[in-house]
Amino acid sequence: ALVPVILAGGQGTRLWPESRADRPKQFLDLTGAGLSLFQQTLLRACKLPDCGRLIVVTHNAYRFQAAEHIQALGLDVDLLLEPEARHTTAAITSAALHALASQQDATLLYLPADHIIQDESSFIEAVTRSLAAAQSSIVTFGVVPDYPATGYGYIRPDQSSGDAPYPVQTFIEKPDSDTANVYIQQGYLWNAGIFLGAAEVFLQEVRHWVPETYQNCSQAYKCAVRDLDFLRLDAEAYQNIAPQGFDHSVMENTDKARVLPVSMGWSDIGSWEGLLKAEGGGNASERIYSLNTSNSLIRSSGPAVATVGIDNQIIVVTEDAVLVMGRQSADQLPQLLQIMQAAG
Ligand code: GDD
Ligand code: MG
Repeated sequence: ALVPVILAGGQGTRLWPESRADRPKQFLDLTGAGLSLFQQTLLRACKLPDCGRLIVVTHNAYRFQAAEHIQALGLDVDLLLEPEARHTTAAITSAALHALASQQDATLLYLPADHIIQDESSFIEAVTRSLAAAQSSIVTFGVVPDYPATGYGYIRPDQSSGDAPYPVQTFIEKPDSDTANVYIQQGYLWNAGIFLGAAEVFLQEVRHWVPETYQNCSQAYKCAVRDLDFLRLDAEAYQNIAPQGFDHSVMENTDKARVLPVSMGWSDIGSWEGLLKAEGGGNASERIYSLNTSNSLIRSSGPAVATVGIDNQIIVVTEDAVLVMGRQSADQLPQLLQIMQAAG
């Protein structure tokens, strides 16, 4: 069966101050839907035809938030706990090992826990259409770029040979903006961050390109222990894993990648800029008063906020913190957070 795997261990630092280390963005209701992004992802996954029991991979520190959000939907899933963050290669590998332990021919659909997909039927159709190709490859989903974003992977499809999903000619993770500009002109697509393929294929590729991670994950899974509803991966083995994104470790190197171009109202709200693009402006709130204010995102979960005569600003207010950031400088937010962290 098709097994959706939800990757819910990211920290979401680019959405500070709403997203915090102990309350990352996937567990926030950023869109005002009354559901966290994580819950929206779970519900979307459940709509896939012939869908098996979901797997969720997150960190120990987020276990109660994750469990609570799952329970609130009345769902029953396999919850894999990583002792600490080791990036996506480890999370993807651990989930594949877990799926294979109960199902030899599992096809896995890895879903980031923090995306918006407005057109669910296009999403479901794209996955269904790619299932056959996914038996022998890793299918990615390509989104037509609308600006030279530096936070995404870029994919060049090889459309010379037959039908979509097309073979991937080049996969480049997070190029600088000049390079991204060139790629856009050459017809590259954004990687939507969703991966579909046979569990066996994912494991083969990890074993081939990052054998040490494969070894450590196998060890961590072999020594995993059940604890209430959680399956805890072994801490000692996990410690030895070098943190690496799956995009760098496997996708940039493999010759098994394919890409299906898809238009499904996708947006990654990995940053305030992303949310602004997705929602098309500040979110209207009774507590926000704006005059002569343009191209800006203004949010508050704390005091009322009033702006006048500003353009291209991001202003986010919570109970205990205020962010005021020029949109052109949004890339520097992680740097700012480091300064704050160093200052305690
Ligand atoms: N379980 C677990 N453990 N999940 C993790 C970990 C981890 O250590 N690190 C990240 N994740 C989760 C995040 O919560 C997110 O859902 C997903 O894995 C992807 O990680 P990100 O850190 O958000 O990656 P990214 O946004 O920088 O880049 C990826 O997504 C882009 C599209 O949004 C890449 O796949 C890019 O190529 C892609 O364009
Ligand atoms: Mg992301």
